Amino acid sequence: MYVCICHGVSDKKIKQLAIEHGVTDIRGIKKCTALGSQCGRCVRQAKEILEQVKPVELQKAS
Ligand code: FES
Repeated sequence: MYVCICHGVSDKKIKQLAIEHGVTDIRGIKKCTALGSQCGRCVRQAKEILEQVKPVELQKAS
């Protein structure tokens, strides 16, 4: 599913950045993908996806 259509950023891409590259905050996601630079509405959805990923990240760390 696309979160940011104008830059082609999918939920998979966001999860991949968070899990494989440790980009777990919205600022990092925006920097890596340009998400949110057009409409800004997609940022909220991206934040929700990051919230889902955080428990997985914490599990990996322990
Ligand atoms: S959908 Fe691309 S910036 Fe919001």
